[in-house]
Amino acid sequence: MEQEITVPEEWKEILRFLGERRRGMVYVVGAADRGKTTFCRWLTSKLAKISMTGFLDCDIGQSTLGPPATVGLALYSGTVDVPKATYFRFVGAVTPSGHMVQELVGALRLKEKAKEEGALYLVADSPGWVVEPAAQEFHVRMIDLLQPDVIVGFEKGPELEGILVNFRRHPRISIFECATPAEVVERKREWRRLYRFQRFSEYFSGAVPHARFLSGLGIHGRIPESFCEDEWRDLLIALCDPEMMVIALGLVDRLDLVTGTLSFRAPPHDAHKVASVHVGSLQVDLSNPPGRLQQGTRQISWRQSTLSDEEGPSLPVRASPSSGARANRGHSSPGRSG
Ligand SMILES: Nc1ncnc2c1ncn2[C@@H]1O[C@H](COP(=O)(O)OP(=O)(O)OP(=O)(O)O)[C@@H](O)[C@H]1O
Ligand SMILES: [Mg+2]
Repeated sequence: MEQEITVPEEWKEILRFLGERRRGMVYVVGAADRGKTTFCRWLTSKLAKISMTGFLDCDIGQSTLGPPATVGLALYSGTVDVPKATYFRFVGAVTPSGHMVQELVGALRLKEKAKEEGALYLVADSPGWVVEPAAQEFHVRMIDLLQPDVIVGFEKGPELEGILVNFRRHPRISIFECATPAEVVERKREWRRLYRFQRFSEYFSGAVPHARFLSGLGIHGRIPESFCEDEWRDLLIALCDPEMMVIALGLVDRLDLVTGTLSFRAPPHDAHKVASVHVGSLQVDLSNPPGRLQQGTRQISWRQSTLSDEEGPSLPVRASPSSGARANRGHSSPGRSG
């Protein structure tokens, strides 16, 4: 977590504010490439020296804790080198658009988990999708649900006003607005796609085949409307425990209706703990890195491409035929989480 960064005076002011309060939750919001994650890491490392601190990674596209398509929580005490514990909830997509309920519920459950585990501070990073009305509504609802004590807005102009104005008169929420540090490095859309691909590749690098009888297991989410093999192949799923925390993510090989068996690749995990399977909206083709075009991609309206960018001005929810997408489904090459 340690990197050479510039620490503006306003960051120190926020740290002093939280230090005096001895506890509190911070929600960090801003467009893409504003320095949000760098600030979150810095603040988490400082607060962890005071008390146990959670880092809540709600940026499902450019995840830094878990693989993309998950909301993650890491708990730190003293140092941020190694978390004391991590927890993940599955959203199943790399942009909140069309998956707001999954993200809202996941973020709230992880906030509760942080409290349960004794964290006095919680620092939440959020997706850089802030401009469209739907994006603004997403952040307004996240803030209303999570009830942070502090909102930190990273901006270059009045781009966050549509979100922040809703909370300016809130009796318990303090708003800090920070200029984007000049050192922030902008990333192109291609870089973001590659990032996701690499994050997924890393996550599944040790994956092994599994076969699971579905009888007695919950299965929910974006279940394909047909049992056609192409609809299921490479579909991103999460194997969840009874509290719906992610045990492992998987990529479907096939669904055998005759035997009621789901075959998939996933990292080794304790299969006895699995209580439900959450089906996501992505097909993740690890053999097809971003940049390679595929012919004949059919668009399926409710599938997302891992290649789409939540930060883009018009967020495509439909499958993209571009790089990384596998024929038949808008799906994409997985990214890496980092
Ligand atoms: N205060 C800083 N000092 C030096 N470099 C910085 C600082 N803030 C950000 N950067 C650089 O800019 C890059 C992008 O910043 P960061 O990832 O924090 O932005 P972000 O708003 O979280 O972006 P994203 O939209 O991808 O989530 C960082 O990897 C880092 O190299
Ligand atoms: Mg970020």
